[in-house]
Amino acid sequence: MAIHTVGVLGCGLMGAGIAQVSAAAGHPTIVREVDRGRLDVGLARIRQFLQDGVTKGKVTTEARDATLGRITGTTTVDDLAGCDLVIEAIVEDLEEKAAVYRAIDDVIGDRAILASNTSSLCITELAARTRRPDRFGGLHFFNPVPLMKLVEITRALTTSDETFEALMGFARAVAKEPVVAPDQPGFIVNRLLIPYLLDAIRCLERGLATRDDIDKAMALGCGHPMGPLALVDFIGLDTTYAIATIMFDEFKDPAFAAPPRLKRMVLAGKLGRKSGEGFYRY
Ligand code: NAI
Repeated sequence: MAIHTVGVLGCGLMGAGIAQVSAAAGHPTIVREVDRGRLDVGLARIRQFLQDGVTKGKVTTEARDATLGRITGTTTVDDLAGCDLVIEAIVEDLEEKAAVYRAIDDVIGDRAILASNTSSLCITELAARTRRPDRFGGLHFFNPVPLMKLVEITRALTTSDETFEALMGFARAVAKEPVVAPDQPGFIVNRLLIPYLLDAIRCLERGLATRDDIDKAMALGCGHPMGPLALVDFIGLDTTYAIATIMFDEFKDPAFAAPPRLKRMVLAGKLGRKSGEGFYRY
């Protein structure tokens, strides 16, 4: 199944990055936003990212221009009619995603594949909300997409072998390393990462060590680029709490139970970097 033209639904943080890597790999790429204003912001983000690459000497001006030349922005779903693969990266809401799948199902060809970049929703449930459950799968990129090498690929119970192989091939074609993840909350990375982050908060809560010593110990002792509390601030305390809650609901395992302190910090609006304060002040 050859993938040539790629559609991306949503040009937010993730959609912009996905459109960029798709176009950089040579695919004509059409990205759809809900209105002109948001589309302009998303396309500007792509231009800025590529320009920063040029300034740092990592991207040539020719590559920048060629990538931008392959990206078309639109606010109508109809413009995605000729796509072989459509990657959905809109808000993390089941009903919003289902609504956009209904619209796109009528427009794209019978053989086209639909994939979701969802972080937490059930891939089999999303597939069931389309008219192509065999041509649907999870394609989970990491932020920032142009820099992070990993893609977690998830099969719904209904995903065909052909679709799965096409998604693996696409991930490699856009210079990513695919891993096969289960259709379970957290896939692989968050299944391992979230209990670690929650444990770090529990350690702080129980007075095991100070904030700075917990972060210093894990950064220097394990060679991590930052400690767990700084990482929670980076991800966002609200996002961490939301992921942990979804995982606890599914597995009923105390490892995924949000510590009381995390919940209270979210309620107090201390969301990390994005709000100016979390475990640290910014
Ligand atoms: P975002 O809020 O930055 O972007 C979402 C964009 O989708 C917005 O610009 C919104 O206007 C647009 N949108 C909403 N409905 C739409 C529609 N019907 N058609 C086209 N565009 C529409 O969100 P972000 O962070 O990019 O997340 C998108 C998806 O990626 C979510 O499913 C999220 O769980 C997932 N994800 C997020 C990661 C992150 O670090 N932020 C990492 C990996 C996955």
